[in-house]
This record gives sequence, C-alpha cells and structure tokens, in this order.
Amino acid sequence: MYDYDLLVVGSANADLVIGVERRPAAGETVLGGDLATHPGGKGANQAVAAARLGARTALLARVGDDAHGRLLIDSQRAAGVDTVGVLVGGAPTGVALITVDPSGDNSIVVSPGANGRLAPADVRAAVSLFHTSRVVSAQLEIPLETVVEVVRNLAPGSRFVLNPSPPRPLPGEVLAACDPLIVNEHEAKVLLGEVCVSEEPADWARLLLAKGPKSVVVTLGAEGALVADAHGVGSVPSVTVDAVDTTGAGDAFTAALAVRLGAGASLTEAAGFAARVGAAAVTKRGAQDSYPTAAEVEALCCAHPGDTPRTPGTRSDSVPGTSERGETL
Ligand code: RIB
Repeated sequence: MYDYDLLVVGSANADLVIGVERRPAAGETVLGGDLATHPGGKGANQAVAAARLGARTALLARVGDDAHGRLLIDSQRAAGVDTVGVLVGGAPTGVALITVDPSGDNSIVVSPGANGRLAPADVRAAVSLFHTSRVVSAQLEIPLETVVEVVRNLAPGSRFVLNPSPPRPLPGEVLAACDPLIVNEHEAKVLLGEVCVSEEPADWARLLLAKGPKSVVVTLGAEGALVADAHGVGSVPSVTVDAVDTTGAGDAFTAALAVRLGAGASLTEAAGFAARVGAAAVTKRGAQDSYPTAAEVEALCCAHPGDTPRTPGTRSDSVPGTSERGETL
C-alpha cells in the first residue's frame, strides 16, 4: 500500500569539518586539522540513515545548482534514497561549519541557503509523496511554515515524527501532529521555556506531552532515553561505545526510530533500536559515513549483550551513545 517506509522533509547541507584540539571560545582563534567536506544536513542525514537500515526512503529537500548540491544528491542516490523530491536552485546549497574535538563533541554553524527556500508550495507540489509514505519526518533547518504545511498534508493513517532542531517555539498544530516529538535536553528546555522549573527529565517529558504531542522521546546521551505517551513515562538503556564523532548521531537516532515505528514496533522497542543505531553512528567520523546497516546494528548488540536499563539522568548529549570515550552509556 505504501511506496515508502519513510519520507524525510528537511535540510541538506555540505558539512565543512575541521578537527580541533579544543573548540574555540568567543574571540578565540584555534588551529585545526585539514578541512574535510561531507554530505550532511539533518534531513539528508535522516534519509541516508533510514535507507542504510533497509527502509524504502524518499527525501523532499532543496539544494543549490552547484557542486555541493551534486555531492548531496549523489550521496542520497548511493544510499538508495529516492531523490524525486529533491529540488534544485533558488540559492546556494546549505553549508554547515563544524568543529569536532578529540572527545567527539562538535560545534555547528549552519548557513541554510537553499534549505531556507524549501517553501510550503514545494510541499503541496509533492503531495503524492505524502500519500505513499507510511511515516513522515522533519526537523527545523527549513522554514517553520514549511513544517506546518507538512503536517497539513499528512495522509490519513501516516505517522509524523519531528526532531525540533535547531529548537524554536512550535505552533499547537505542529505539536499535536508529533508521534513522537524527539528532543534532547537543550531542545526540551527551549520548547518548555518558562514552564520548565525542573531539572528532572521525566518532568520535561510529561510537560512536553501536555503541550499536545501524542508521544515524546527525550534523549539523554550517556543516560539513555525516556519515552512518554498516554500510558506513562519509561526509560530506554544506552549502549557502550567509544565515541569518535557525534555529528549526525541524533539524525540516525530519529531515522531509526521512525523506521521501526513504521514497522509496527512499540515506542519503547523503537527507541531501544534507535539508541543502538545512534551509538553505532558515533563510532565513526562524519555524519552519513558513520551510519550502520541493520547487520552492523545487530553486531553492535552482540558486542554489548549486557546493556541494562539505567536511571535517567540529566546529561545533555543528544543521542544515547554519545558519551566520553570508552564510558559505559
Ligand atoms: O545533525 C548534524 C547535522 O547538523 C550536520 O550534518 C550539519 O549539516 C547540521 O545540519
């Protein structure tokens, strides 16, 4: 009945990455390693992550008519993503300037470029993709009015997954469509604003749920993740890995969660799988280059058979599995 397991609507960026000993403070200049250019962007990353897991995936995005745009389209096609929805032109391809330190943590500045021109009309023109997709996912590196149009074009019975990154206040119409809304600590606090008086992640999950989503996932890095829906709040364990580069691991988590939910898994089961995919993604450099196949996720599980649920804490890492090097997540 569905042609696609997942339709991703979102950004595509060229990631310009420099390894540094220490990420610079305000007003500081640091020397780094050689510049590397990778395909990235939260939407393009999600699409590649889903396809690599074996999901039938399409991407609705906009890139510039330039070398970065061609790099991005090529990487989507190489992963098996249907690029029929990738529009070309209007502005230069989006660019992300990324520094990565030896612990694998990063800092990112995004110039949206063509992502900022992905318009509500582009969503309406791609309505056939919405009618043939089991799950639709989005992020916030594209205009908010475009995300609003996405939820207005969801087909009956399809599921909407949102990672509000970078975070900003969301209209009730978007919140109500989320199943789930996926946030890390920073995103949770921005969305909750003044309402957030607690440092307890389970409270963030409950407060976010009260804003209208059908379900919520709070990722807590080394502390795993929380899932919340009408049945209550539960925890999901993390996985032991050596973190090399956390870039794009949150996108892999979201894609894996969306794919598993579409396959009929419960929110807890899907988040557990997504945590393993996110953990695998931090063990390699880059975003899309680090994403595992289903077989590689399986191998990671066998390598860490003793993973157990943990008490949720307050770490702000965006993905269960993005810890200090060698720490048990
Ligand atoms: O989530 C990681 C992504 O954020 C990078 O690929 C970069 O392009 C930015 O969008």
